[in-house]
Amino acid sequence: MHSWVELFPVSASQHADAVDQLYYFLLIVSGFFSFLICVLIITFAIRYRRARHPVAEQTREMIGLEFAWAGIPFLITIVMFVWGSKVYMDGEIPPKGTQDVYVVGKQWMWKLQHPEGRREINELHVPVNTAIKLTLTSQDVIHSFYIPALRMKQDTVPGQYRTLWFNATRPGTYHLFCAEYCGTNHSKMIGHVYVMEESEYEAWLAGADDIRPAEAGAKLFVQYDCVNCHGTGLRARAPALGGLYGTDVLLADGRRVLFDEDYIREKLLTPAAKRVAGFAPDMPTFKGQLTEEQIIDLIAYIKSLTGGNNEH
Ligand code: CUA
Repeated sequence: MHSWVELFPVSASQHADAVDQLYYFLLIVSGFFSFLICVLIITFAIRYRRARHPVAEQTREMIGLEFAWAGIPFLITIVMFVWGSKVYMDGEIPPKGTQDVYVVGKQWMWKLQHPEGRREINELHVPVNTAIKLTLTSQDVIHSFYIPALRMKQDTVPGQYRTLWFNATRPGTYHLFCAEYCGTNHSKMIGHVYVMEESEYEAWLAGADDIRPAEAGAKLFVQYDCVNCHGTGLRARAPALGGLYGTDVLLADGRRVLFDEDYIREKLLTPAAKRVAGFAPDMPTFKGQLTEEQIIDLIAYIKSLTGGNNEH
């Protein structure tokens, strides 16, 4: 398509096509009714203008008409609601077996991290036809991760993890923006998404020897003395973390919570909030000591632990 007729950014995912179809539907429906209303206003204005017909005829009791103008818009809006919900939920709930990438927004750049190790700034490389799940957070203020070609946008909120998933269907280079005003250099918080063929992607992934997040996390685990309490053996004063990820944890107050990214993050920053049953409240806070990227590294490490101890 020539750029002068390009009303939409290219569509590089199935989700983008679904969003566009819904958008066209909404546009056609609202266009049709806007047009209809305009025509009726003009028609009536001419037909009943004062000079010719001073009084319009009063009509009562047209049950059919009443039902029609309540019922038809109702049905149309229900279609919009159901269709819109489906498109939204399809984009919201990732399928099983996604490839994960971590995203940290900070003034004023995007820092991305692949589990295999590669780290990027303002660039995201992904293989084509693969379900990619992004886990996003922010180091400082609210940013918004926006890829128009994928019709995807997600705010990154400090203190919370948000997820986003996509399956890019067209190799190419696409724009990446920050879509939330976040300070002086907001407009420079931009980059590119590279959708690559599988083989190209593998080569790219192997092209650097960045340390894997799980390995970086393992180092932090020792560096911050986590291993002292969460280790196995007689000195263990805290739960062993192996195999816990994705399970329910029983808290001291009787609640059960899912041991996931958010839970680990909260434990690191406000350990007193959700105490695990059977252990003393000894865990110190690491607030202000860990960057968001280090927290992600630690999470990756804890996720990688299996079995009942802290070994891989
Ligand atoms: Cu980050 Cu705008």
